[in-house]
This record gives sequence, C-alpha cells and structure tokens, in this order.
Amino acid sequence: RITGIDAEQILDSRGHPTLHVELTAGDGAVHHGFAPSGASTGEHEARELRDGGPEYGGLGVTNAIAVVAGKIEPLLRHGQWTCLDDIDDALQRTDGTGHFARIGSNTAVAVSTACARAFAARDELPLHAWIAARLGTTPTLPVPHFNVVNGGIHAANGLAFQEFLVAPTGASTMAEAVRMGAEIYAALAGQLRSRFGTVGVGDEGGFAPDTDDERQILGVLVRSIEDAGFTPGHEVQIALDSAANGFYDGRAYRLHGRWRTADQLLDRYDELVRDFPIWSLEDPFDESDRPAWRACVDQLGGRVQVLGDDIFVTDARRIRQGAQDGIATAALIKPNQIGTVTQTFEALRTAREVGLAAMISHRSGETLDTFIADLAVGAGVGQLKAGALARGERVAKYNRLTRIEELHPELRYAELRSS
Ligand code: PGA
Ligand code: ZN
Repeated sequence: RITGIDAEQILDSRGHPTLHVELTAGDGAVHHGFAPSGASTGEHEARELRDGGPEYGGLGVTNAIAVVAGKIEPLLRHGQWTCLDDIDDALQRTDGTGHFARIGSNTAVAVSTACARAFAARDELPLHAWIAARLGTTPTLPVPHFNVVNGGIHAANGLAFQEFLVAPTGASTMAEAVRMGAEIYAALAGQLRSRFGTVGVGDEGGFAPDTDDERQILGVLVRSIEDAGFTPGHEVQIALDSAANGFYDGRAYRLHGRWRTADQLLDRYDELVRDFPIWSLEDPFDESDRPAWRACVDQLGGRVQVLGDDIFVTDARRIRQGAQDGIATAALIKPNQIGTVTQTFEALRTAREVGLAAMISHRSGETLDTFIADLAVGAGVGQLKAGALARGERVAKYNRLTRIEELHPELRYAELRSS
C-alpha cells in the first residue's frame, strides 16, 4: 500500500532543476526516486515536462511537481497495487500520449523507480536481486565503462565524438575495475596536462582537452593505460560514443575539420578500430541514417559492438525492428528515455530475445541516485556506463557497485563479447 507520494525540486549535476520523489509505504518506510536528464537526446525519446518561462531558462519542474500532487498521488494512494506493471500501466494511461508528453518522462521515471524500490522492499530483496527476479536473469557485476574524455555537446572543445571510454575487461572484481579506472584517469590527467596545459572537464567528468583530433586522444588514452601499468586491448578496452546526431547536417558528418559522407566516416571507423583497441562503437551514425548503420554492422560487426542509443531510445519496438533490419548488435538502456521501469524491462527482455547485447547508461545530467547500478547488476547485461572516476554523481554509481560486490561476494564480474 502507498500512503503518500511527495515530489520536490532538486538540482541535477548541471545545475538544472529535476525531480526527487518520496514514496511512503503502508509500513511507514520511505522510498526514493529521481529523474536524470540528457543533453544529446534522441528524436523519439519520451518528453520531459518543463515549465518554460524565464526561471531556470525554462527548465523548472513546478508543473511536474503539480502533476505528482494533483494526479499521481491520488491515483496511487487510492489503488490496491500488487505489482509494478500495474502502476506503470496506470502512469501511461494517465498520460495518454504514448511518450509522456502530458505528465512528463521526468515525472514518470522518478515515480516508477520509487515504486520499484517499494516493491523490492515488500519482497524483502535488495533492488538488484528483485530486478533479476523480475527479468529472470543471472545477476552479474557489469564491466564499467568510464567516460574519461568528453567532447561533442558535453564539452566546450572541438572533439566531434562525445565520449571516449575505458573498460577494464581484465579486472576480476568490481573493486579492481574501479581501481584500474581511477589509476588510468590519474595517468590521463598527467598526460593531458603535459600536452595541453590546463584541462577542464565535461558534463560527465571526463577531461575536455582543447583539440578536435580524435586520433590524438586515442593515442593519449593508449599511453595512459600503459602508464597506469595495464595492457591496452588485453586488460583494458576502449569504447566510443560518437553521438553522431551532433555532427550530422542531414547530408554529411563533420569530423576533425572535414565533412565526410557516411561511407567516408565508416572508413574512418574502420581505421580507428584497426589502429586502436576499440571494442564498442555507440551511435556511429545519425539516427535517421539507417543504411549507414547497416553498412557499419556488415563491415565492423564482427570486430566491434555496434551500440544503438538515440536510434533505439530504450523502446522495445524500435529495438525489435532494429534487430530485424540488422542495424546494430547492442542497445543502450536508459530508463528515462522511455519513462517507466516496466518499459525499461520490456526493452531489456526484447534485446535478449532478439539477440542484442545491452549496456545500461546514466544521463549527462545526473543526481546522486544509484538505481542504474542495481539495474545493471540485476539485468545481468555485463555492461554499464556512468561517466568518469570523478564528480559525486558519477562515482556514486561505481561506489554502489563495489558495495553490492562487498555484500554479495557470490556475484561474478562480467566478461564482454563483441559479437
Ligand atoms: P545524454 O548523453 O545523456 O546527454 O543523452 C549520453 C549518451 O549520449 O549516451
Ligand atoms: Zn549515447
């Protein structure tokens, strides 16, 4: 039983308003939910509800808070709810638009995650174990993908690619993976300072060196992995999120000072995959450029994971269609892209059913919430990205993973497969 739902405005890691929901259960226990927020969003993501107007540049959430107080709290307080599916269905029905244009995906995700926590508590399970039971999966500690260099619209530099990530595949525990990541991050700080002088950081805590040369960055990354004492390509892999929507003008892609056709960009990826220990390419092309995605899977799918973010937006239907069309080998999963935890579970089940791998992801605007860490463990997908080894809202996720490992020594650290 739910006796109350209260929403308040907090600030996210970019200083933008977002939602914190507190759900009070019949036994008096309080469960929390938070809404993260993306900047490089896919066209078909569920819609956030924002106030508009002059305050906070239009990003206020007082309307979303009013929706919780006026619509959702009465709905949930008066119902008899036995499972999360029913609540998430009710949220979708109350909204009625199919993409949360009325009540807001920020409202939906904060309420839905608070409810998920309430059901896990009712079933007396840790959140990750409850998620694994819902999905019928074997919980696994995911290989963390640390976003250590930021570009695209997450940084004020000239790098077209949004994220350069390192993944300690050679670790045998989460604690070791985190230590390896932190040591690489420190080595990278030294490398970048000696080459660029002062280096700031981007939205996800990765460094934002003043360059537009992705090859140079990949070279520095390899050096930093070695400086930290690890073997690139053996103990540590590199992953890229191009977020190609951000450098596509409808016809061509602007990379390192030059416009390239999709074919030329694919050749560029081929070179990079040959020359550097890259194991995963996320959003290598614009979400509308499906023939380019297909060509990418055909040409590189045997060597790297081709990971769809903006093209799938955590939507089970799009993931199924994408698998049929052969446009990707993996799907990125972000609960707030689709709205509810139940829909996120559907996306995960669908990916598994159609043979796509999956990576759980944070957003560039984050809170201290660690729901996605439990989701990554419970879904057993083996992959998570949650930013750099710096900034509280990023390390909160990694700290939660090491805590889960401490409490559950029976959990295994995942192995990655690129195809
Ligand atoms: P976003 O970026 O949260 O700004 O969308 C993350 C990503 O593109 O993976
Ligand atoms: Zn992405």
